[in-house]
Amino acid sequence: MKKTVHTFQEAKNLGEKLTMLTAYDYSTAKLIDEAGIDSILVGDSLGNVVLGYEDTISVTMEDMIHHGAAVARGVKEALVVIDMPFMSYQTSVYDAVVNAGRLMKEGRANAVKLEGGISICPQIKAITETGIPVVAHLGLTPQSINAFGGFKVQGKSEDAAKKLIEDAFAVQEAGAFAVVLECVPGKLAAIITEKLSIPTIGIGAGKECDGQVLVYQDMLGMFSDFVPKFVKQYTNVGHVMKEAFRQYKDEVSRGIFPAEENGYKIDDDVIEKLY
Ligand code: KIV
Repeated sequence: MKKTVHTFQEAKNLGEKLTMLTAYDYSTAKLIDEAGIDSILVGDSLGNVVLGYEDTISVTMEDMIHHGAAVARGVKEALVVIDMPFMSYQTSVYDAVVNAGRLMKEGRANAVKLEGGISICPQIKAITETGIPVVAHLGLTPQSINAFGGFKVQGKSEDAAKKLIEDAFAVQEAGAFAVVLECVPGKLAAIITEKLSIPTIGIGAGKECDGQVLVYQDMLGMFSDFVPKFVKQYTNVGHVMKEAFRQYKDEVSRGIFPAEENGYKIDDDVIEKLY
């Protein structure tokens, strides 16, 4: 059955954990969907893990639509959330609504995600009022990496923790149906999770969140440029891929691949007429 915003709220109400993974292409999305993961995030981490940028700043609306639509084509049940890229919503409420609409119409999203708290609430309110579900994103918000001065845990001081709680209430009030908490101390995330009526989805925010999200290349050991502490590698597909690539190179050089069974036949009399 197709997962919806109601699935998210029901899970929170029943105390059942939600699962979310990123995907950026059709075949990975299909595998994740078939594994029964509740939601697929077409994250702007696309910039890092797919496009090779050092941050998410350069990711465009066209990038998100292109990859979002590929993911949507591979999904039957999971709720597809597409990230609004840097400067597609910060500039004005009008831009936010128009760009959220494009992610729904052209990217075939079921919901959009945007970063920020109180300052971005007018955008969240306006988008949700058009009927587009919104996931908020608080804590370490990678689009503000230049303002943060690096990838740092957020909400550690009393003031910062109080601000994070205020932001969480504000995005809920503005209409967000879930909130991602990134790189937040576990005990603070637990307080926010208990106080909010909407589900929290944690990444580096401890186990008390209502759900968890990971970048799939991180959890499969496919991306080694930067591995945050909060990542658990469930396997090392990177090693498996490299080994297969080496074996392929070796077999091609030694004439082992392609073998007879990998080829197509033609009648000998046809071949004879070609000489
Ligand atoms: O872009 C992304 O992958 C994200 C997750 C880290 C939550 O926003």
